[in-house]
Amino acid sequence: MSEPWAPSSWRSRPSVQQPTWPDDAEFELVQKQLAAEPPLVFPGEARHLLDQLGTVARGEAFLLQAGDCAESMDAFSADVVRDKLKIILQMAVVLTYSAGVPSVKVGRIAGQFAKPRSAPMEVVDGVELPAFRGHIVNDIGFDERARTPDPQRLLRAYHQSSATLNLVRSLTRGGFSDLSQVHQWNNDFVGSSAEGRRYEQLAAEIDRALRFMKACGFDIESAPNLHEVDFFTSHEALILGYEEALTRQDRLTGRWYDLSAHLLWIGERTRQIDGAHVEFFSGIANPVGCKIGPTTTPDEAVDLCERLDPDRQPGRLTLVSRMGRDKVRDVLPSLLTAVRDAGHPVVWACDPMHGNTFSSATGRKTRHFEHIVDEVAGFFEAHRSVGTWPGGLHIELTGEDVTECLGGSSALVDADLDSRYETMCDPRLNARQSLDLAFRVAELLRG
Ligand code: PEP
Ligand code: CO
Repeated sequence: MSEPWAPSSWRSRPSVQQPTWPDDAEFELVQKQLAAEPPLVFPGEARHLLDQLGTVARGEAFLLQAGDCAESMDAFSADVVRDKLKIILQMAVVLTYSAGVPSVKVGRIAGQFAKPRSAPMEVVDGVELPAFRGHIVNDIGFDERARTPDPQRLLRAYHQSSATLNLVRSLTRGGFSDLSQVHQWNNDFVGSSAEGRRYEQLAAEIDRALRFMKACGFDIESAPNLHEVDFFTSHEALILGYEEALTRQDRLTGRWYDLSAHLLWIGERTRQIDGAHVEFFSGIANPVGCKIGPTTTPDEAVDLCERLDPDRQPGRLTLVSRMGRDKVRDVLPSLLTAVRDAGHPVVWACDPMHGNTFSSATGRKTRHFEHIVDEVAGFFEAHRSVGTWPGGLHIELTGEDVTECLGGSSALVDADLDSRYETMCDPRLNARQSLDLAFRVAELLRG
């Protein structure tokens, strides 16, 4: 008989994508320190998200999961967090108002630091150094000191997550997220664009609707839904020692929760069915996600569902399809059918970013806005053909005016990429492109 699950049981399974720490004793000490720190989120909040994702699984709501590819410890400020929150709130309003379905808002934020890499080492001009694995592990500069994994970074990641979450909590509870502030979320950079003006019109309609409700005698002052938003955190749970240290047993239910975030997901590179990540995720009670790429077979998808959602609980498992625009229409339908026929009420989300990355003529890692839209369109077509619900969108964005992805209404081209290419890992949509995408997805949802 197999051993019962414990937060450490992943240790007996093969684990990929873990850094080689120079000093194991130091890494262990840091894990002990983390285990003594308070949790970042609470089990009741994770259950609240699970309930909301349950409505997505039933086809009654839409999931918007968005944020950085990798959060930075250098470019961390209140403004960056606030701007990211603004664009996510704008997108959610567009989706909810234009498509008429509630949106469940989840940030790739407050813990999205660790990156899986295609090669463990990087060679530049004949010099070989460990690959950059995100600020929770090492630094991006190409020298020995920067690239050596440093366990102290786990503690910094925890504290930055805590500060970020504190800000997110106050911004989503206070006046900032009040629906009457819907105009304020449009910043100057976005406001001057075509999609910014389209958003202004929509915001004006919302104002009118609120005034109308008030005139009809509805007590809109005391309706909490109009003044606060539920906003949840998520990240790829890659560094298992970190996640284990923040996994705690809930006194109320006796179940184990990874309290580093509300939702955790498994990346495309770490979803081996007998591997350490799937083992760890099988025992935590949070809502969980798993990325699935174009090589996934229907049997593999069903096996993942059996391991991660044995109770067939709506909202427990989100499968994040990241096929690439040229494959999504071929690969996805048979996965949708197999999972449905096996009786797993999963949330299906579309990550139209990671299957559409290429190198620009100038050697920048980039993505084209139209390819992203095309994958989302293919995702919707696949669902419509099978009769399942296209439940959500999972994207990499920033609230800043960066130039990392091509296209969009301001038609960014290769030569523009150098002007503000700031990501530490994958290219993100800027705020205009993100808003543009929200309008396009709302049209797909309506259609
Ligand atoms: C990511 O979400 O940043 C990522 C690495 O994705 P994937 O696991 O799908 O490649
Ligand atoms: Co990425």
